[in-house]
Amino acid sequence: MTTARRQYCQILNWILIWNIVSCLINGSPMIVNTYHERKEVSNREYSVRKLFQLNGIRGVALCAGQCTRNVLCASFFYNKESQTCTGHSTVFIGPRYRFAQADRNKYYVIHTGNLGDACHSDADCNFQFSYCHYSRCLCQEGNSYSFKDRSCVQSCKLYGRYFQEVPYYFIDQHNMETLTGISFEDCQMLCLNRTSYTCKSFEYGDTSKECFLQNITRQDAIADWNTDQEGLFSYYQRHCS
Ligand SMILES: *[C@@H]1O[C@H](CO)[C@@H](O)[C@H](O)[C@H]1NC(C)=O
Ligand SMILES: *[C@@H]1O[C@H](CO)[C@@H](O)[C@H](O)[C@H]1NC(C)=O
Repeated sequence: MTTARRQYCQILNWILIWNIVSCLINGSPMIVNTYHERKEVSNREYSVRKLFQLNGIRGVALCAGQCTRNVLCASFFYNKESQTCTGHSTVFIGPRYRFAQADRNKYYVIHTGNLGDACHSDADCNFQFSYCHYSRCLCQEGNSYSFKDRSCVQSCKLYGRYFQEVPYYFIDQHNMETLTGISFEDCQMLCLNRTSYTCKSFEYGDTSKECFLQNITRQDAIADWNTDQEGLFSYYQRHCS
């Protein structure tokens, strides 16, 4: 056995012993928190899909622990100076988002390949029914993301506030409502505001400012799923809550 190997074995033994002790004391093994810094999103902050903000967290490893313990948490910002730890249920990649400046805020992801993460191929995305689309890990067309299950699903028990865009596709017909002359944000808001039916998807045309609200998704009308050759409309499917 080489010295390096012996040292490695000793470390493993200590982890084993520590886990046994930890099990006896806490009833659960020590969880080694992994996290990866994303320098391109450093010195920023963002309010989208914020799960929690905690103060007085002494160190990035403890912040990672908070995120790991929350089943919905995929990434976090940690500010060493203010000891603030902010968890998010998705992964942000720069410079696509309208981040606000926040000096000394560092950004970390818990696992690579979560929803929204950067990717080169489908294999980089580590959740079920995902794919790498325009260099981002997304749900395969027609699926909604379930944060609880960390998986893409065909339908949700409850629908949430966020949508996934499928550029230049649409469901032909099946519109519950057709609205014209409204902004993208209002179209999205109207979908979320509907109470007489569950709005699960919508199409929006940037040029025509047309908004089509639907109580179904691509899965409910595969035969009517069409690509928009002119590139005027995109499809937006609601994620689970
Ligand atoms: C949707 O509802 C919210 C609050 O319930 C309201 O503030 C907003 O104006 C509504 N938006 C639209 C486009 O109806
Ligand atoms: C959508 O709405 C239509 C018309 O009200 C209804 O017939 C249909 O069952 C609804 N579909 C779903 C999936 O809720």
